[in-house]
Amino acid sequence: MQDELFPESWQRPVQQLSPGITLLPGLALEEEKQIWQDVQAVLQQAALRQMQTPGGRTMSVSMSNCGALGWVSGHGGYRYSPTDPDSGLAWPAMPPRLAMLASQWAAAAGFNGFDSNACLINCYVPGCRMSLHQDRDERDFSQPIVTLSLGLPARFMLGGIQRNDACQIIPLIHGDVLVFGGPARLCFHGIMPLTAGAHPLLGSRRISLTFRRA
Ligand code: SIN
Ligand code: FE2
Repeated sequence: MQDELFPESWQRPVQQLSPGITLLPGLALEEEKQIWQDVQAVLQQAALRQMQTPGGRTMSVSMSNCGALGWVSGHGGYRYSPTDPDSGLAWPAMPPRLAMLASQWAAAAGFNGFDSNACLINCYVPGCRMSLHQDRDERDFSQPIVTLSLGLPARFMLGGIQRNDACQIIPLIHGDVLVFGGPARLCFHGIMPLTAGAHPLLGSRRISLTFRRA
């Protein structure tokens, strides 16, 4: 059967979920191995760690960054920092392949000229979640957020621009790219608790890369 020649995710069409939000299913699959190598090289230089919320709670998701700026959280609040607070060193440079792909993916969703200078790496193990929030620590909301999902499947909660707007649940699987910008740039979003499983490349976890212009 012709269908069996293609991974399932290649068959899902590009989806405009709402104005400014585009799901590009499986767009990263072709380069999954190189992408994963790049991510592992970054994490060897700046290990994943659980950050504290400004209120003093430990986040369930482990994080790291690459790029000129990295997103950090702690008792001082949320901010972008040029250095890794754990090591005092600059964050690892953004691997050129990742920067180029993020720009291509943004363009595929209608955002030309996206030049990310920050990539937050989130690692979820079963049970980890990310509560509903807006990405609003960046300077220029005309630039989109580009998210790549790797490893175990996630259920992405997509709300509106008011915290109590209704949410839709979007399944995101390995290789999927989600872009949100324009009228959806400040949409509330989050990740439901990760379900246990094993992924052939990443094992028992999900890693997301979120590219930003910080
Ligand atoms: C985030 O909103 O920073 C992360 C979303 C995700 O992990 O897909
Ligand atoms: Fe976010």
